[in-house]
Amino acid sequence: MPLRKKDIYLGLINQITRLMTERPPAGAMSRGGLQQCFVAISFLLSLLSSPTQAANIFLDWNVAFDRTIKPVGEDQPVITINGMFPGPLIDSTTNDEIYVNIFNNLDEPFLMTWNGIEQRLNSWQDGVKDQIGSFFYFPSINFHKAAGGFGPIRVNNRQVIHVPFDKPEGEFDLLIGDWNSSPFKLTRTFITGIAGIGPVTHEYMLINGKGPYNNSWGGQHESIEVEQGKTYRLRISNVGTELSFNLRIQNHQMILVETEGSYTQKITFDSLDVHVGQSYSVLVTANKPVSEYFIVAASTHPSLDISGVAVLKYKYSTTQPSGPLPVGPPPSDKDFSISQAKAIRWNMTAGAARPNPQGTFNVTNVTISQIFILHSSYARINRRNHFTVNNVYYFTPSTPLKLADFIANGTGVYQLDKFPVNSNNAEVIQGTFVASGIHKGWAEIVFFNELDEMNSWHFDGFGFYVVGLGNGEWSSAARETYNLFDPVVRSTIQVYPGGWSAVYVYLDNPGMWNLRSQILKNWYLGQELYVRVYDADPDPAKERPPPGNLLHCGIFDGQI
Ligand SMILES: *[C@@H]1O[C@H](CO)[C@@H](O)[C@H](O)[C@H]1NC(C)=O
Ligand SMILES: *[C@@H]1O[C@H](CO)[C@@H](O)[C@H](O)[C@H]1NC(C)=O
Ligand SMILES: *[C@@H]1O[C@H](CO)[C@@H](O)[C@H](O)[C@H]1NC(C)=O
Ligand SMILES: *[C@@H]1O[C@H](CO)[C@@H](O)[C@H](O)[C@H]1NC(C)=O
Ligand SMILES: *[C@@H]1O[C@H](CO)[C@@H](O)[C@H](O)[C@H]1NC(C)=O
Repeated sequence: MPLRKKDIYLGLINQITRLMTERPPAGAMSRGGLQQCFVAISFLLSLLSSPTQAANIFLDWNVAFDRTIKPVGEDQPVITINGMFPGPLIDSTTNDEIYVNIFNNLDEPFLMTWNGIEQRLNSWQDGVKDQIGSFFYFPSINFHKAAGGFGPIRVNNRQVIHVPFDKPEGEFDLLIGDWNSSPFKLTRTFITGIAGIGPVTHEYMLINGKGPYNNSWGGQHESIEVEQGKTYRLRISNVGTELSFNLRIQNHQMILVETEGSYTQKITFDSLDVHVGQSYSVLVTANKPVSEYFIVAASTHPSLDISGVAVLKYKYSTTQPSGPLPVGPPPSDKDFSISQAKAIRWNMTAGAARPNPQGTFNVTNVTISQIFILHSSYARINRRNHFTVNNVYYFTPSTPLKLADFIANGTGVYQLDKFPVNSNNAEVIQGTFVASGIHKGWAEIVFFNELDEMNSWHFDGFGFYVVGLGNGEWSSAARETYNLFDPVVRSTIQVYPGGWSAVYVYLDNPGMWNLRSQILKNWYLGQELYVRVYDADPDPAKERPPPGNLLHCGIFDGQI
């Protein structure tokens, strides 16, 4: 039975997402237990702490499929918000409270996630505490992200806080990602194992939903207007499903200043690698002759040569952009990318959401209380594709984990710590992988990528202190190379083919948190787990009780 239209179907982001047992392709799913588990609530994204000076932002969003947009010239369903693709900008300031009513006009469930926005205090609903920075929202079930539904989020500093660079003349959001004219068909091919482990054959790289300059179907390209002599902030996000890109601007340099809510030490680049799920702010000064210049976002996949091409247009320019497109490092140059990633460091003395410096958390001396070594790989079983973490591909129970935890400590739904967190399980199996996280402990998480494709990992509820990245297998000797002095804190970390990334995480946020591959195909096919950070203290200042309209569903259906 289809869900009623014009109702608000939003859920507990981490839990409801898990309801699809097999996550079949869109349109083919059984909606049995799912409907009962969707909660009719609106989102409150509250950027809390002191409520003084906070503004309330009320948004009503209508989500729909639209076939008239034709981003690549073909008739395809695109997910729009209030008719827009990408969706509208959420332009907020630390401490604002944002109320979003989402009306689902699709004929299937829809779920929004707010990337990089840390859910603090309230793991039942999305919430934000003490944040600044550049993020984006996107749909998180049914492969919807491949059809759009994403949009930019800015969280600006409060006036009283000094920002570590001069106020730019203007800001632009660039949402860039791989795109396919038939994502749902592709989904089916890789679930059923027709497509293998390699990348989906993405055909395009869109910039703000638009095809490249001078595209063959006569579609618009993205163009941003600047004034000579002025400096602009570009907020760049990789909203794609699978491909990393290298961004460069013809004849211009970029000064990196922010990654997903952390101010970085300023560093100048000719080009910047952005991996799936990541966001950056760069400053660009229009210091060249009045003209138009190419902005290129080129896939860094060695066998998928696609690029997004937009235009940086100087005011009063009367010429077209010309000359060859700016070139970047060769796609196979992993070392370029790794050394660039290592050069990105936190500015410990800059203030952020609060006036105290970001370096309040200095990880030099922290005591690690848990070590996770997570191998990401792939298995083909009974002619189906699965992506695994420590040889486990995720089984989504019909009961939300958070609900199971609240009512019965998980009994009947999952078994805590059933699977190893620092080695591969002896055999490849499907399971509801839930690991204990020690509340207020520091965890070291090492992601080891056993595959020859790029991976990208995200942890809801926490930031990653990126202490190391490398080629080849991780060993404890790699700890000697960690940057414990000024690692950047961010929400999403890339893991290179056959390589590793190491992060520290401070588990100060009680809840049931999703740790997942941000590569949509991998996530969809099982590459995720949950970390249960438990605090016996029921103090609502640590974790708020569930909302009054909590639905008891799954095995608790009918129980009050
Ligand atoms: C770090 O932040 C401080 C304080 O805002 C600023 O003065 C300084 O220029 C920044 N350093 C770098 C390397 O970006
Ligand atoms: C536009 O595309 C056409 C055909 O694809 C090509 O011949 C032409 O050189 C392109 N023009 C520019 C300015 O890039
Ligand atoms: C972090 O703490 C260590 C040890 O106290 C100190 O040596 C280091 O300078 C600190 N890092 C920064 C960036 O202040
Ligand atoms: C790190 O440990 C040293 C030696 O115990 C101590 O002096 C220093 O204050 C600590 N630094 C931080 C940032 O905790
Ligand atoms: C869940 O576990 C905690 C601690 O182990 C215990 O105090 C509590 O009573 C349990 N709750 C239920 C509903 O079993």
